[in-house]
Amino acid sequence: MTIREADALARRRLSDRRYYHTQCVAKAARELAPKFGADPDRAELAGFLHDIFKEESDDVLLKTLGTSDIISDNDLAKKHALWHAFAAAEYAGNVLGIPSDICDAIRYHTSGRDGMTPLDKTLFLADYISEDRKYDDCIKVRKTAATDVNKALIEGLRYTISELLERNAVIDSRTLDAYNSCVRSI
Ligand SMILES: [Fe+2]
Ligand SMILES: [Fe+2]
Repeated sequence: MTIREADALARRRLSDRRYYHTQCVAKAARELAPKFGADPDRAELAGFLHDIFKEESDDVLLKTLGTSDIISDNDLAKKHALWHAFAAAEYAGNVLGIPSDICDAIRYHTSGRDGMTPLDKTLFLADYISEDRKYDDCIKVRKTAATDVNKALIEGLRYTISELLERNAVIDSRTLDAYNSCVRSI
């Protein structure tokens, strides 16, 4: 699938607001990729596909996830916020024939994971600092990313965890693993 085709797919599947977010993420991913040592074309493609299931119902998400993740991962079953990422990755791999490294970046764009690849890091941070996001934490992380993308990634993970703590929400173990592995690697 070409970048242009992924863009068109996102446009067809998403509302104006979510499509604008997607365009901003794809642009940020292309810009951040070289800084993490990832391929800009793969990053932009991942950006256009990362939220294609964001506006689907739980029924569609569960159907797309099939028996793979939800059934084998009790933890994931309770975390609706992560479903759109896992469903998009399943669809990208099984239906669109997208290579597995790009599917993984899509799958972990919300949670992060242990030992994130350069492409995973690129998409996670692009999603965090995309131009459409206006809240304080994003502005701070965007500023850090201008000079140090690895520091910005850790900040983004830290704010994600803090925000979940403040809401008394469950923190996915992948996010803690991502934070720890990023901190250890600096
Ligand atoms: Fe997302
Ligand atoms: Fe997103």
